[in-house]
Amino acid sequence: MRHASRPAPEGHTDMRLIRLIANLGYGSQRDVKAMIKAGRVTLADGTVLDDGTKAAHDDIRVDGEPLDPPPGLVLMLHKPEGYTCSTSDPGRIVYELLPERFMHRNPIVAPVGRLDRDSTGLLLLTDDGPLAHRITSPKRHVPKTYEVTLARPLSGEEGAVFASGTLMLRSESTPLAPAELVVSGPQTARITITEGRYHQVKRMFAAVGNHVERLHRAAIGGLDLGDLAEGQWRPLSPAEIALVTGS
Ligand code: URA
Repeated sequence: MRHASRPAPEGHTDMRLIRLIANLGYGSQRDVKAMIKAGRVTLADGTVLDDGTKAAHDDIRVDGEPLDPPPGLVLMLHKPEGYTCSTSDPGRIVYELLPERFMHRNPIVAPVGRLDRDSTGLLLLTDDGPLAHRITSPKRHVPKTYEVTLARPLSGEEGAVFASGTLMLRSESTPLAPAELVVSGPQTARITITEGRYHQVKRMFAAVGNHVERLHRAAIGGLDLGDLAEGQWRPLSPAEIALVTGS
């Protein structure tokens, strides 16, 4: 085991390194100190980082593995049915589909808007609060496209009702912004909305006398799932984030 070449005073470990690793969810600061002391934190070349030597994020290894991505992480998950967008639900939660550490990061990697437990499709998660706000803010009108399967055949009137900008959902005081409906079959359609009200798509179809049996989010802004398999996730590139925010 080789040691870093720029030793600091005896017993000194870099608090920045400890905080960095602890905030990525690897453990408490005390846990991380112990990991460093045990020689588990190294550079890519195997040099042990136990003496305060500064190291770049990309060059740090824990147990030989690269560190998780730094803060500013944005990822997409292809959410399967049956998972809740929560950290504490007694049933299955979306965090089970991600590295366990992601739920323990500070700041936490949190869902950007929610998908119901029985809904599937594109879910974004990030630790970047301002970015999450930019995506979910009703003022930004980021479009979200859903594929729906309905319990009853479409009447043909729904498109005009949804596009009108006057549809009022029960117990709400402002009408919905216009939404676009593209019918794809007698009981299937794609709907694009620019808000994120509670159970919005299901309530819209309930308002026109129907019932959503399957709901799949296909796209947010210009970003879709591509070939990402159900249950899988991957980080987004800056260009993909720009597809979501439109900037
Ligand atoms: N609208 C809903 O009703 N449910 C979702 O999960 C997303 C949008």
